[in-house]
Parts: sequence; structure tokens; C-alpha cells
Amino acid sequence: MEKEPVLHTKWCGKHWIHLDEVTSTNDYLKQGDFPDGTAVIADRQTAGKGRQGKTWSEAPVGQAMYLSVLFHSMKISDMGLLPLLCGLAAARSLGAAARIKWPNDVLLGEKKVCGILCESKIQKGSVSAICGIGINLNQTEVFFAQNNLPHATSLLAFSGQRRTAQAAAIQLLEELEPILEQYRQEGFSSLASSYCGRCVTLGRQVRVIRAQQEITAQAISIAPDGGLVCRKAGETFVIRAGEASVRGLYGYL
Ligand code: BTN
Repeated sequence: MEKEPVLHTKWCGKHWIHLDEVTSTNDYLKQGDFPDGTAVIADRQTAGKGRQGKTWSEAPVGQAMYLSVLFHSMKISDMGLLPLLCGLAAARSLGAAARIKWPNDVLLGEKKVCGILCESKIQKGSVSAICGIGINLNQTEVFFAQNNLPHATSLLAFSGQRRTAQAAAIQLLEELEPILEQYRQEGFSSLASSYCGRCVTLGRQVRVIRAQQEITAQAISIAPDGGLVCRKAGETFVIRAGEASVRGLYGYL
């Protein structure tokens, strides 16, 4: 089933695929040959994927958005920044209260409302990125309690607002396109203050869990490649997303 949205973008999401059900919208884009900016949205995901090999749980139809967007002609060096750019777009689409936990979890209050999984695929010698974005929209607090998701929230649970998955996808794509264009023309430095302004990780003591070892350090800034610059005992080091998991001292945040 395909439904055409009214989308005010030039290329991002202009090729739009709406599926009733799919295993994972990311995997759907991985398997075919689609134009640059293709967006896939599904009402149901039966095998949604999260970061670090985790699963992304499914909500009742109409209560969450599952979206993946395809970007052609990426450089490998873009891949570390893309999650941050998508996180910024998702946060902007959710309003002024939305914050980002590095690299790209979007929070409302102290809970996660949106998760992002960026993957790459190499086709005909060129690198494409698949950015998968899941937003919790209309689940209730009871849903999260019953499904043992104590760190998750939804737009409805946080703010009382309801939003359809299609409206959420349109808002996101309309935020994502100008961010990507600005990144391509001016680089990440031109977006860094907007990202850092929403990033709750900076300035905090974080637990860095890497190769089954855990250290506590101060998160101080974002590196030009999207890494998290941390300091411990006067020594500065950079953590890359995917290499380590970052938690606050007292739990998720
Ligand atoms: C995370 O926080 O662990 C990332 C979650 C990413 C979930 C989205 S939903 C749409 C897309 N398809 C997937 O299988 N995963 C991403």
C-alpha cells in the first residue's frame, strides 16, 4: 500500500514508500536499488533493529513511527556524523523540549522518545547510508510499564500531544533535508552549536562501557568527526559511537 504525503522538501522523502508491514525498514532499503532520498515508512516492523545489536520493540499500529531514509554518495568520513545530524533533525521535529543523548538518542524529559540506527551499504562501488529512525508517538505510560521499558517515553506520554506516524515522518524529513544540505555545504562546525545546545551528555560525568571495561569520565565536547571528547585525570580521549556505550552515573541519562 502506498500513500502519497504532502512533503515540502526538494529531494528528501520525495520517493516515498509506505508499507503495512516489514521486518525492518532499514533492511528493506538495504535490499533494493532506490533513488537518493528514498523514505520508507512502515505501520508495523516485525524485526526492528536497534543499535549495538539490540532489537527495537514494536508498538501497536499507529502508536510509533518507523522510518528509514536512503542517502547516496556518502563518504566514509560522513558516517560518524550522520547519526548526530539525524538526531538533531529528530529533536527539532519534536520541539524545543527535545534533547539529545550523544550520539543520537532523543529525549523528552529524562526518557528516550526516539532511537536512530545509521547503517551503510556499498553498491556499485559507492557508499550509501541508511538512516533508520524510530519515534514513540502515542503510547501511554502504562504501555511502557507493561513492556518493561522504564527509560522510554512517547510524545503523548510527555506532552499530551498525539501525532500520526505520517505527520511525524513528514516533520522529520522537512528538518533533515536542510540539515544535510547545510552539512554538505558548510560542514558540521556550522551545526555544532545547535547540536551541542540540545546535547545533555556534555558537561556530565559519564560511564563509558567499552570492551567489557567501564570507566568514568567527564564528557566535554564533540569532536569534528562526531566522537565524544572525554577527560579523565587530565587526559583527553575521544569515544566513537558504536565503539562504546555511554551512560550517566545514575542510570540511562
Ligand atoms: C536504537 O536506539 O537502538 C536505534 C533504534 C532504531 C529504530 C529504527 S525504527 C526504523 C528503523 N528500522 C529498524 O529496524 N531500526 C530503525
